[in-house]
Amino acid sequence: MLLMLMMSAMMLNMAKSEEHFVGGSMFGWDPIPSNDLNSWSLNQHFRVNDWLYFGYDKRYFSVLEVNKTSYENCIDAGFIKNVTGGAGRDVLPLTEKKTYYFISGGDYCKQGLKVAINVNDNFAPAPAPTSHKSGAPSALDASNIYHAIVGLILILMFTKFLG
Ligand SMILES: *[C@@H]1O[C@H](CO)[C@@H](O)[C@H](O)[C@H]1NC(C)=O
Ligand SMILES: *[C@@H]1O[C@H](CO)[C@@H](O)[C@H](O)[C@H]1NC(C)=O
Repeated sequence: MLLMLMMSAMMLNMAKSEEHFVGGSMFGWDPIPSNDLNSWSLNQHFRVNDWLYFGYDKRYFSVLEVNKTSYENCIDAGFIKNVTGGAGRDVLPLTEKKTYYFISGGDYCKQGLKVAINVNDNFAPAPAPTSHKSGAPSALDASNIYHAIVGLILILMFTKFLG
C-alpha cells in the first residue's frame, strides 16, 4: 500500500519533470573514452524536480555524490551521499538548485567516470499570459506524456527488481 502511494507520488512527480539518462543512454555511466560525460552534461538543462538515471555495470561502478574538491581529485572517502542502490540502475531526484558532483568509486573516477550536474533552473518557465496562444496544442504536454511513460517503465523495472 505504501509502495503504491509512493509510486503514484513518483508518477505524478515524473509527469511534471524530466528524466536525464546520465551519459545520454541506458548504460551511460561508464568510463569509455568516447563517452564525454561533461559535454553531455553541459548540453542538458537540469531543473529542480528533474531526475537523474545512472545505468551501469554494477560489478564495477558505483555512484557517489561528493563535494567539488573531492570531485576534482577523485576522492571517495567522506562522500555526501552514496547513491548506489546495488542494481546498477540508480534514480536520483534533483531537489536543489546547486551543482551536484558525482563520481564512481573504485579507480574509475580517475578514468573519467565523474560528472558535474548544474541545476540552475526551476521547473517550467511560466507561460506568457497571452490569449492568442491558448488554443494551440502544447509541445510540453506531449513531452510530459513521454516522460510519464518513461517514468512508468522505470518504476516497473524497479518493482521487478524489488519483488
Ligand atoms: C569535501 O569533502 C572532503 C571529504 O569529506 C572534506 O575533507 C573537505 O573538507 C570537503 N571540502 C569542502 C570545501 O567542503
Ligand atoms: C555504497 O552503497 C553500496 C550499496 O549499498 C555499497 O555496496 C558500497 O560499498 C557503498 N559505497 C561506499 C563507498 O560506501
